[in-house]
Amino acid sequence: MNAELLIMFTLGCDRAYLYAHPERELTPDETQRYGEALARRATGVPAQYITGHQEFWGLDLVVSPAVLIPRPETEHVVEAVLELISSAGSKQSQEQDQKPRTGVSAPHGSRIVDVGTGSGAIALALAKELPTAEIHATDISAAALEVARANAARHELTSRIKFHKTDLLSGFPPASFDNVVSNPPYVGDSEEESVQLEVRKFEPRHAVFAGPTGVEVIERLIPQAREALRPGGWLVFEISGTIAERVRCLLSAWDEVEIRNDLQGIARVAIARKINP
Ligand SMILES: C[S@@+](CC[C@H](N)C(=O)[O-])C[C@H]1O[C@@H](n2cnc3c(N)ncnc32)[C@H](O)[C@@H]1O
Repeated sequence: MNAELLIMFTLGCDRAYLYAHPERELTPDETQRYGEALARRATGVPAQYITGHQEFWGLDLVVSPAVLIPRPETEHVVEAVLELISSAGSKQSQEQDQKPRTGVSAPHGSRIVDVGTGSGAIALALAKELPTAEIHATDISAAALEVARANAARHELTSRIKFHKTDLLSGFPPASFDNVVSNPPYVGDSEEESVQLEVRKFEPRHAVFAGPTGVEVIERLIPQAREALRPGGWLVFEISGTIAERVRCLLSAWDEVEIRNDLQGIARVAIARKINP
């Protein structure tokens, strides 16, 4: 799989071309570039940092070592948000005109913030799916925000997403959002040995590790999200099985709390609603 990705990168072609031209031979220059890419991969550099690309939610995203490589399991976070918004949207339309609608229509004026946007993966996916929503995205890393902005420009979503360099939700007035969404850092320093060497060595530490126990960023995010949400709003964020029970405790003051599993049966998405201010 990696060899295939790296050969497509070297030739600047897609998989269809690769399979349609098995007779294609590498030129000496291509052979040298392919060899260099393989050598970097052999030292553990993730293929995505070599090619500079990763697909997420059907979007081709540019990635650099300044950002976490978006993971397929984070698509469950996007799915959960779309589901909540879709049901709120159809309730609103039924109330307004008594006619149920299909598809994902964000309630009018819906405001969403993606906290710790990294490459912009979640914010871009939501902007693509929710053409009427106002999307904000924050990150503490200026370098990550540069990558996210580049991705928004590549997908002509610049005018749809406002990027903010800030610590979690600092600087937003209370009751600003209908949805706070995040894939925060959630790995504990004590779990370091169980994290793949590639991740530890090459992905940004502040994107993966939260502190000694893994819940340090989430512990700060939850009260800030409560402040930033309008009554009735939803907090949706990615977690791991290791911290699921601690997250449930941290959400004890919230309503409609749900922990969803990913396709491997591992707790992956925490959902909670702020009913009372
Ligand atoms: C796990 S990565 C997620 C990136 C992207 N949302 C994704 O799903 O691929 C966490 C991101 O949170 C950012 N981050 C870490 N601490 C933060 C903080 N206190 N405030 C804002 N962003 C933070 C990191 O820079 C990183 O981009």
